[in-house]
Amino acid sequence: MKGVVLAGGLGTRLYPLTFATNKHLLPVYDKPMIYYPIDTLVNAGIKDILVVTGGPHAGDFIRVLRNGKELGIKHLEYAYQEDEGGIAEALKLAEDFADGKPICTILGDNCTDADISKEVNNFRDGAHIFVKEVPDPERFGVAAFNSEGEIVEIEEKPQSPRSRFAVTGLYIYDSTVFDKIRSLIRSDRGELEVTDLNTLYLRDGKLSWSELQGFWKDAGTIETLSEVYRYWAEKNVGLRNERE
Ligand code: G1P
Repeated sequence: MKGVVLAGGLGTRLYPLTFATNKHLLPVYDKPMIYYPIDTLVNAGIKDILVVTGGPHAGDFIRVLRNGKELGIKHLEYAYQEDEGGIAEALKLAEDFADGKPICTILGDNCTDADISKEVNNFRDGAHIFVKEVPDPERFGVAAFNSEGEIVEIEEKPQSPRSRFAVTGLYIYDSTVFDKIRSLIRSDRGELEVTDLNTLYLRDGKLSWSELQGFWKDAGTIETLSEVYRYWAEKNVGLRNERE
């Protein structure tokens, strides 16, 4: 399977930190943020990766990632997004790269130590999403379940969430994803929403899900960036103490 890391956007919620570089290159303990989503893909055996970026600091990615060899990537490509149009719009740029094969997509600010290799290896068709219980579901896409544990609805940033399960920014799609994106219409905030894309798979009965095991957080705000930083600082110190 191939992998796509979506790392565009202007990172306005992190101004002034993002005046001089892209959000996904900010430090999270001892690594740039984008190393974490790349590690998630590489650890699941995905070594053919496209980074979709945009904005004024897109060139910084080459200086940081170079050809990706140090991260265990075999083949690294870059795509440049002209405008900010949402996650599904950014994903459009991966169509040639995907070349008719399934893709595992991760948002460049989603930092997790979960192992997704089982889901990657077992994937056949449709879409697979990963959910995580969170204290603040209204900040995310939120899955609602029936009594059989099937997802019946996904709502983007609902005021009254029907569950505490956030849809994380980690998705596996089959090759029909690009036709589905073409059929999406822009939301009120002018974006092609990933939640609308996932809803198309849900309506076709083609959406499976699993719960991410381990730590997961998006580092898109100053509060969550600090939490993610702290998590990895403590984890690394803990690992070092175990070794000594
Ligand atoms: C995006 C998605 C949302 C998802 C979240 C995960 O939100 O729209 O459905 O739960 O990523 O990080 P955004 O970060 O664009 O607000």
